[in-house]
Amino acid sequence: MKISIIGGTGGMGEGFALRWVVNHDITIGSRDAEKATRSAELYMNAALSSYGNGMKGTIRGADNISSSSDSDILILSVPYESIKLTCESISSNIRKDCIIVSPIVPMERNDAGFTYVPFEKNMKSAAHLLTQNLPGLKIVSAFHTISEVKLKNINEGLDSDTFVCGDDQDSITKLNQLIVEIKGLRPLYLGPLSLSYQAEVLTPMLLNASKKNKIKHPGIKLT
Ligand SMILES: NC(=O)c1ccc[n+]([C@@H]2O[C@H](COP(=O)([O-])OP(=O)(O)OC[C@H]3O[C@@H](n4cnc5c(N)ncnc54)[C@H](OP(=O)(O)O)[C@@H]3O)[C@@H](O)[C@H]2O)c1
Repeated sequence: MKISIIGGTGGMGEGFALRWVVNHDITIGSRDAEKATRSAELYMNAALSSYGNGMKGTIRGADNISSSSDSDILILSVPYESIKLTCESISSNIRKDCIIVSPIVPMERNDAGFTYVPFEKNMKSAAHLLTQNLPGLKIVSAFHTISEVKLKNINEGLDSDTFVCGDDQDSITKLNQLIVEIKGLRPLYLGPLSLSYQAEVLTPMLLNASKKNKIKHPGIKLT
């Protein structure tokens, strides 16, 4: 599959690229094409030294706009605050059958700890904002509670679950196939995209518990 990661120069983007290059061709997107190319080279070298000949895919870099065209899966790995501008810049390039994946968590930190922005400021969930800004496209949300540190550590499995929300069963099935390619990660269907806030809100909760109880890079697993 052709997977593009908008904002792929960030920590999550690196983790996705390193995990999926085993089987897929990855494009790292950035607002700055040169930055994307530099990141892609670094990730490709890291992947080659870990996987060697066992790797079927490649990693290349491009600006966000060209990265968004001709991909089967488009990961929107950008901050919540940039959803509107990012969508405006790429929406006309996205194929109608492309599956758009949001790991985006609207989160801030105040004196009490990490908070979920939509509850604090009466704003929309990340998934809701995406449906407004990318009308008619197939959107799935997942990966909210996955730590970038663990995702990037390709020597270890994640031993975690990730909640998946979406309105299109075929898109969910395809994303689930990609999720299980990440060692130790299990997809759990949570419900339609309108329930994505229930997955998004878990991240500030996890980070607060992590800080207060000194647990590094926590994840979630239902038992
Ligand atoms: N980090 C985690 O452990 C974690 C866990 C779960 C979910 N998430 C979510 O996953 C997404 C990506 O996480 P991350 O930690 O990789 O994010 P990040 O490092 O903060 O940002 C990712 C990339 O987004 C681009 N970007 C930054 N500000 C932007 C702006 N104002 N407009 C457009 N693009 C901008 C940057 O790429 P360029 O400068 O190259 O364009 C940056 O490298 C976020 O929505 C986050 O909430 C993160």
